[in-house]
Amino acid sequence: MSAPAPERTLVLVKPDGVARGLVGEVISRLEAKGLRLVAAELRTLTRDVAEEHYGEHRERPFFGSLVDFITGGPLLALVVEGPRAVEAFRALAGATDPVTAAPGTIRGDLGLEVQENIVHGSDSPESAAREIGLFFPGLG
Ligand code: TYD
Ligand code: MG
Repeated sequence: MSAPAPERTLVLVKPDGVARGLVGEVISRLEAKGLRLVAAELRTLTRDVAEEHYGEHRERPFFGSLVDFITGGPLLALVVEGPRAVEAFRALAGATDPVTAAPGTIRGDLGLEVQENIVHGSDSPESAAREIGLFFPGLG
């Protein structure tokens, strides 16, 4: 009998993180944790893809600004795999607001702005499946 498939999650190094040269830092942290890279691509999102990715926030006041930001330059999209990968990466990323994110986390150590908070990580296995399908339709 084969072992159960490890969980996958979608990680983005957002345009601020790419522009600040933090790609290596983020990948180092997730690899050091034991998560494994499955796919990686540097790309600039279209508004359509960005609006679909952040669809749950469509009615929020920050939605337009968030779409402007996430489409404003290249980001690094990663599919990452490991036991409880969704929860494991969210713990590495820290809280949404970098000012209150715990020191030791990516956002807590490296950010100050809620919008420019360096990384995205899927918030559930269901979100991960949806987001991986959007970014990497050939996977899975
Ligand atoms: P959210 O899904 O709540 O956070 P997370 O990235 O931790 O899952 O929000 C998505 C992104 O929207 C968040 O990473 C940064 C941005 N955002 C704002 O710009 N302003 C806000 O008030 C919030 C809550 C989020
Ligand atoms: Mg979220």
